[in-house]
Amino acid sequence: MDWKKQLIVLVMFVVSLSTGCERTFKKPPMRVFPDMDEQQKINPQADSSLFEHAQSIQTPVPETVEREPLKVSSPQNREWNIKRGAYMFLSYCAPCHNKDGEGFGPVVQKGFIPPPSLITGRSKDWTEVAIIKVIVEGQGTMPSYAHLINNDDRARIVQYLKKLQGEAKP
Ligand code: HEC
Repeated sequence: MDWKKQLIVLVMFVVSLSTGCERTFKKPPMRVFPDMDEQQKINPQADSSLFEHAQSIQTPVPETVEREPLKVSSPQNREWNIKRGAYMFLSYCAPCHNKDGEGFGPVVQKGFIPPPSLITGRSKDWTEVAIIKVIVEGQGTMPSYAHLINNDDRARIVQYLKKLQGEAKP
């Protein structure tokens, strides 16, 4: 190895020692790559010298719309909730459970373990909470969908599922 190659290897070694996050140091470390250790940001509860009221957090401007203003249980929303539940079920559950809930969705047709029927299986007698628990925690080979489906939509999916199950009853 000529001296240039040796120098490159040495430099790479030294740099590799000084990178990485979440290490604790007794003395301030030499930071070649500071990553995102220090960021310019204002924490919501912190004081602020920018505003007269000295708070960082601001009152929402008039006519700000809540992100989730709908109440699942209110009867006038029932129709909309079921529509939204159907949309979410078709997007997130039907790939495995199929759009009829019987369990032979496209993913299963490609070889995934078939889930039990949601229409005639044991889950038809489950409470809303028990089904939401499966959406949140997953069950066996079914992964959790907690990060993709918010609280209200979970309840809407169950409302839609109850409707599907009801329609299937003789
Ligand atoms: C990746 C495929 C897949 C997706 C997507 C999926 N599931 Fe499942 N689900 C399964 C499988 C497989 C099981 C059976 C798991 C076990 O018990 O081993 C299951 C089980 C269940 C059960 C319990 C059934 C019983 O009788 O034990 C419920 C309820 C359920 N899923 C609801 C849902 C809902 C609601 C969604 C959409 C949010 C969903 N699943 C999305 C694969 C999936």
